Amino acid sequence: MKIIRTAHYEDLSHKAAQLMIEKIRSNPDMTLGLATGSTPKGVYAELIKDHLENGTSYEKITTINLDEYIGLPSSDPNSYRYFMNSELFNHLNIPLENTNLPNGTADDINQECMRYEQLIKDLVDIDLQLLGIGRNGHIGFNEPGTSFKSRTHVVKLAESTRKANARFFESTDEVPTHAITMGIASILDSREIVLLASGTAKAEAIRRLVNGEPDEQFPASALKLHPNVTIIADEEALRLV
Ligand code: GLP
Repeated sequence: MKIIRTAHYEDLSHKAAQLMIEKIRSNPDMTLGLATGSTPKGVYAELIKDHLENGTSYEKITTINLDEYIGLPSSDPNSYRYFMNSELFNHLNIPLENTNLPNGTADDINQECMRYEQLIKDLVDIDLQLLGIGRNGHIGFNEPGTSFKSRTHVVKLAESTRKANARFFESTDEVPTHAITMGIASILDSREIVLLASGTAKAEAIRRLVNGEPDEQFPASALKLHPNVTIIADEEALRLV
């Protein structure tokens, strides 16, 4: 597991974006696995800036996101589809039909999970998967206790995750109780994984990830089983390492 230490959030965003841009330029039809949350926002802003200034093209790029809340339509500003369109896709030359997120309003959610997992298989390989990390070590929405063999599935969100994400909603009550997420095995199938972490709130999770052994009670530790993982984190997130 490689660690790239950055001074602060802006530095982290810049370094992660540069790493992605280099790969996109040398492999213009690659498949990118993308994440939501506050952490990747700076990276997305840098990708947009580079697209406008240097013309990096996303015309042939395919994207696939980790997760989506159940019950929120794409028109809801708190849905991850809305987030990805407004934070990234709408500002790049990527055809929206090349962008994939689970459909959290599908009539049959279990069938939607199977469709999504099949999509991951059909896309052959996620060349680069971007990840954030929850304070309890969740990746995507795979909460502690999730099997490392899991594929795309429905999850009941931990109360701590709903509270942490409540800042985007009017109140915790409005945070959906369930989500669809790629499973841990689906994530580990990616060729390369880049995990981002910023701020002291993530320091304990990063300490546990770097120093601990693989343990299903701490989902991010599954990354220890993958041969090509880079953590890009700022000083605050790395202060216990
Ligand atoms: C959410 C997302 C994760 C994300 C995590 C951390 O629950 N499902 O994919 O990594 O929270 O989010 P943040 O970057 O806002 O701290």
